[in-house]
Amino acid sequence: MLEVEILNMKLKNPVLLAAGVMGSTASSLNWAARNGVGGVVTKSFSLEPNKGYPNPTTVEVQGGIINAIGLSNPGVEAFKVELGRIDEKVPTIASLYGSSPEEFSLVAKKIEDMVDALELNVSCPHAMTGCGASIGQDPDLTGEMVRAVKKTVNVPVTVKLTPNVTDIVEIALAAQEAGADGLTLINSLGPGMCIDLETARPILSNRFGGMSGPAIKPIALRCVYQAYEAVKIPIIGVGGIMDHKDAVEFLYAGACSIQVGTAVMYQGLEVFQRICNGLESFMRDKEFNRVDEMVGLAHQD
Ligand SMILES: Cc1cc2nc3c(=O)[nH]c(=O)nc-3n(C[C@H](O)[C@H](O)[C@H](O)COP(=O)(O)O)c2cc1C
Repeated sequence: MLEVEILNMKLKNPVLLAAGVMGSTASSLNWAARNGVGGVVTKSFSLEPNKGYPNPTTVEVQGGIINAIGLSNPGVEAFKVELGRIDEKVPTIASLYGSSPEEFSLVAKKIEDMVDALELNVSCPHAMTGCGASIGQDPDLTGEMVRAVKKTVNVPVTVKLTPNVTDIVEIALAAQEAGADGLTLINSLGPGMCIDLETARPILSNRFGGMSGPAIKPIALRCVYQAYEAVKIPIIGVGGIMDHKDAVEFLYAGACSIQVGTAVMYQGLEVFQRICNGLESFMRDKEFNRVDEMVGLAHQD
């Protein structure tokens, strides 16, 4: 009942682990896979190792968390070792980032044989200069990165977009035109910040970070809804999904599968089974036989 097909992958359910949350090592990815996810997305990684920002890198605020990890990762060669240790059989999407078309395609080429699909992170709001949202806020740059990767690899490619733009549709169309096979909407929102009352200083070492969790759900939902009306490629919805009701909203808005990040930090890995169970009983109740019957229903007149 919950099976979906997306980016040439058959998923047992539409609920994936979002990038960056527990996806840094094979053991955490295996652990997620054993806990009912339909698929996993890895932490974003790059050509060279990146230390990221010093602590503190995350802070809890009302409605979610703000993080400025700075895309820390051990680099693609070390990450390949982790990918090789994944022994649980769920589809794996590798998230990657870079600062130029050459860098994106080089990283993509190095790992395409080890994963089922790639997710291009052009949308991190706290990435070092030249990476992340500075690419995803520009339709031409977004298109360049996508085109370069698509020319290099054969696996399906989804592009993760930032909500921090004036017009999400413009960027979504640029990604589609450049050959993207899917879109992932959205990366964290912001940047935002939080100030310590005792020290009168910003809490995060980077001062600013990306907001995730329930507070960003209405914005993520709106991005999915608008993109669905403009593009033909499938959309993976992410942003503030805490339970099956949130998941249903994203499906109705036009997402054909969803990712869960911050909710794992709040609820543990049980959240995946909980969302799947809730989704299944919702579907029985409403007499849906397949997930795709729900996709885009919010667009009816
Ligand atoms: C601690 C943390 C680390 C993250 N790291 C990444 C990352 O490496 N790459 C990426 O594309 N998104 C990253 N994200 C963004 C999430 O994948 C997701 O898009 C965002 O948090 C919104 O979903 P959520 O509200 O379910 O967390 C990270 C989010 C958090 C909270």
